[in-house]
Amino acid sequence: MSKEFNGKVIIVTGGGSGIGAATARALAAEGAKVIVADMNGDHARALASDIKGKGGEATAHVADVSDPTAVEAMVAFAVSTYGKLDGAVNNAGIGGPQKPIADYGIEEWRKVIDVDLNSVFYCLKYEIAAMEKTGGGAIVNVASILGTNGFANSSAYVTSKHGVVGLTKNAGIEYSAKGIRVNAVGPGFINTPLVNSSLDAEKQAFLVDKHPIGRLGESDEVANLIVFLLSDKASFITGSYHLVDGAYAAQ
Ligand code: NAI
Repeated sequence: MSKEFNGKVIIVTGGGSGIGAATARALAAEGAKVIVADMNGDHARALASDIKGKGGEATAHVADVSDPTAVEAMVAFAVSTYGKLDGAVNNAGIGGPQKPIADYGIEEWRKVIDVDLNSVFYCLKYEIAAMEKTGGGAIVNVASILGTNGFANSSAYVTSKHGVVGLTKNAGIEYSAKGIRVNAVGPGFINTPLVNSSLDAEKQAFLVDKHPIGRLGESDEVANLIVFLLSDKASFITGSYHLVDGAYAAQ
């Protein structure tokens, strides 16, 4: 049976954990050749080998997406390994310190902006250039509900994710006529190491309470939306931002 992504070459940044890992698995299950790119080489290699063990195709690549040279090399690695680039999920990210603006350190601010926003520009820049050579592709940037809503004590993260939504709109405008679609997803709070590692029971309850659906989301629920947006079924969807948030942002 023909699979949705047969033969497609797709990079997933931050593919070693959480939403990225769920997305890499889902794409590989649909026939994609996945570059699992992550700063954490052990996690990336473990996931790629797990995907291969299940009959899929994946290769790990270690890259820090806040370094433009590393991002250029990541895209070159995908093209040299599999011959082209058809898709990308720009997902790698960090939460950053939790403190009010006046207490936020300059280096702390720069770090979050580098990892969560500048990286998405670097990724788009080099991914789009590679896709233009083969006549098209599809990209999903992982923003957040905090791409349109504020959240106390997370100014650098909120600013980065708003920026990712803006970049996505511009990329959609600039490249849709060239066959490259670019969208962003806005997950609510999702059960991943990024959220769970900093949560005691009280904070967990606080976050759950913000989602009218009554729970946090799961990585697979975000991956399903990303996979749809990358697929040809989303052929008229570009330059836009799509929530997957249990009604968080509806309030
Ligand atoms: P996670 O912590 O489970 O996974 C993030 C992955 O990115 C890790 O494997 C980490 O090694 C990698 N990474 C971090 N910095 C990197 C860098 N500079 N270069 C390359 N890889 C790097 O996190 P999660 O929750 O899966 O987050 C993925 C994306 O989803 C992030 O962009 C996050 O902001 C976004 N998001 C997460 C939500 C949540 O509640 N978990 C909600 C909304 C958005």
